[in-house]
Amino acid sequence: MARTQRKLDHINYALQTGQHRLSGFEDISFVHQSLPDLSIEDVSLDTVIGGLHASSPIFINAMTGGGGKETEHLNKELSIAAREAGIPIAVGSQMAALKDPAEAGSFEIVRRMNPDGIVIANLGGEAGVDEAKRAVEMLRANALQIHLNVIQELTMPEGDRSFKDTLLRIEKITAAMSVPVIVKETGFGMSRETVSKLSSAGVSIADIGGFGGTNFARIENERRKTSFSYFNEWGIPTAVSIAEAVSVKSGMAIIASGGIQNSLDVAKCLALGAIAAGMAGQFIKTLKEKGLPELIKELKDTLHDLKVIMTALGAKDIKALQEARLIISGETFHWLTQRGID
Ligand code: FNR
Repeated sequence: MARTQRKLDHINYALQTGQHRLSGFEDISFVHQSLPDLSIEDVSLDTVIGGLHASSPIFINAMTGGGGKETEHLNKELSIAAREAGIPIAVGSQMAALKDPAEAGSFEIVRRMNPDGIVIANLGGEAGVDEAKRAVEMLRANALQIHLNVIQELTMPEGDRSFKDTLLRIEKITAAMSVPVIVKETGFGMSRETVSKLSSAGVSIADIGGFGGTNFARIENERRKTSFSYFNEWGIPTAVSIAEAVSVKSGMAIIASGGIQNSLDVAKCLALGAIAAGMAGQFIKTLKEKGLPELIKELKDTLHDLKVIMTALGAKDIKALQEARLIISGETFHWLTQRGID
């Protein structure tokens, strides 16, 4: 029951304290082009994320499941929204459902509501090959996310304190799976050193899960009045982390997430070199505060607005958007300069 309450707390605290505009997007500006030579009808949002073909670069990132009827209902609605908008959806960590099959229903509903869509399974870095296969089977998933959440664990009094051999497990899972494996951060960002290590381990897709949006250090500290406040500002802002990851030039597909709230944020992430953008906190907030029809409308509007922005930039597809001209200023410029990234 404690875990069920924790899942529900995470959602409620994410709505109250999780969303900040600290991802660095205000440091990124597009250079306006007056002659885009493009019609909006010719703009395509199709993307290929490390072998996974999707008709949208925007997806609903991992959030919930395994917390009883309430999370089952939320997963059902998120899945319907993904289906109606034609975008991929990732579920929250399935580890609890692997340990207790009674929990599986709150995940399986995602596939039931969305039989033909892209559904992404999710486990933590403590998972092994057998668990990874079972998580994918549970959902007939098209891909698997392995999440890294060191800071959240350290901020929880009962959380993990050892993070040994995670890369080794990831390497084994990546080699054993028949679906693409995405390694993701959960709001603290990936450095280029992390991305290099993942690349060496054979990982071909990284979701950099940057700092600036949902913040699990803050959520855990506020929910329990704990004193790990030194982690509240910890992390690599999303804009910086995308540039760090892309600078590795490993050929890996880089997914952006962390504090993305609208189509302009998405466009900036893609122009920094990401191939797709995951949104979690923004969508759960809309669902909880405004309901399912509003979430479906927001998803469709965000996709349409992305096409509008691409038209203004003369970018007919995601590849062209990745090459759009940008000016980088402020903290993001400062960070990238010190790290030798241009
Ligand atoms: C999450 N996130 C998450 N990630 C993951 O890989 N497995 C999980 O089980 C969860 N659970 C979860 C619950 C809730 C309520 C939220 C809001 C988020 C993290 C999520 O996928 C994402 O990495 C971060 O939230 C950063 O993105 P946003 O929220 O700033 O868009």
